[in-house]
Amino acid sequence: MIKRQKYGDEIAKAEILIEALPYIKKFSGATVVIKYGGNAMIDCQIKKMVMQDIVLLKYVGLNPVIVHGGGPDINKMLESLNIESKFVNGLRVTDEKTMEVVEMVLTGKTNKEIVSMLNEIGGKAIGISGKDGKLLVAEKDTANGDIGYVGKIEEVNIDVIKMMLDKGFIPVIAPCAVGKDGKTYNVNADTAAGKIAEALKAEKFILLTDVEGILSDVNDKSSVISRIDLDAAKELMTTGKITGGMIPKLKCCIQAVENGVKRAHIIDGRLTHSLLLEIFTDEGIGTMIGKECFDDD
Ligand code: ARG
Repeated sequence: MIKRQKYGDEIAKAEILIEALPYIKKFSGATVVIKYGGNAMIDCQIKKMVMQDIVLLKYVGLNPVIVHGGGPDINKMLESLNIESKFVNGLRVTDEKTMEVVEMVLTGKTNKEIVSMLNEIGGKAIGISGKDGKLLVAEKDTANGDIGYVGKIEEVNIDVIKMMLDKGFIPVIAPCAVGKDGKTYNVNADTAAGKIAEALKAEKFILLTDVEGILSDVNDKSSVISRIDLDAAKELMTTGKITGGMIPKLKCCIQAVENGVKRAHIIDGRLTHSLLLEIFTDEGIGTMIGKECFDDD
């Protein structure tokens, strides 16, 4: 084999592409639901790279579906309108006025920005609210008392998403839901993304987060668990090793995989091109959760 010195760098790049080949083949036509939020959404440069990754996924034959959060944008807007934010167990107390602002920011700002960026890079993105086509139907979540228009998802109607995917669009979904009472509800973006992934029987549900993945030792960032099966993940939940914000995230992944999503991934959205690294390399860069027969690939 001739590896001419002069072309060393180029050949290395080509080799990286070749490593992706089995995955491009395997995931051709597969639906991948990506929850996008946190820091990966704040930092402009990272944001652009995430968008590039998503458009690339589309062009190599996968079907990305984006569900985004909106925390910082919402806080900023509420602040500038002098509306005080109150939280109960990490959930925003959402009265009617707050809900109006939340919906306005999610659908009018955050969603539109993502759509614009994807389009600019060469994708064909469409923004929708979870209310559109009754994609997300919710009931008032009363687990923490009455905290207003915070919804628990009761129903997912994916017709509207399927329609978009059939026509080659990248759906970008804002986590608002329509209530059975006709009102608008604020729903957790991770949960919404997981439920949408289940309903679509997605190949992958990927949570882009602010952490490296699931750590086996909370104090050691290099202790990322690379892959874990469902039983072990459930077991892990009972050990107390999973803390804080990771608890609902891992729960979401477990539920998605239990309900038919092939793999759930928790990856670090702050890391450059983390989506591509997770999907197109053997090792990945975060934590992958799957049902069983886990070493088959
Ligand atoms: N690229 C492969 C996939 O997406 C393997 C990923 C492995 N990831 C991991 N965290 N161990 O299925």
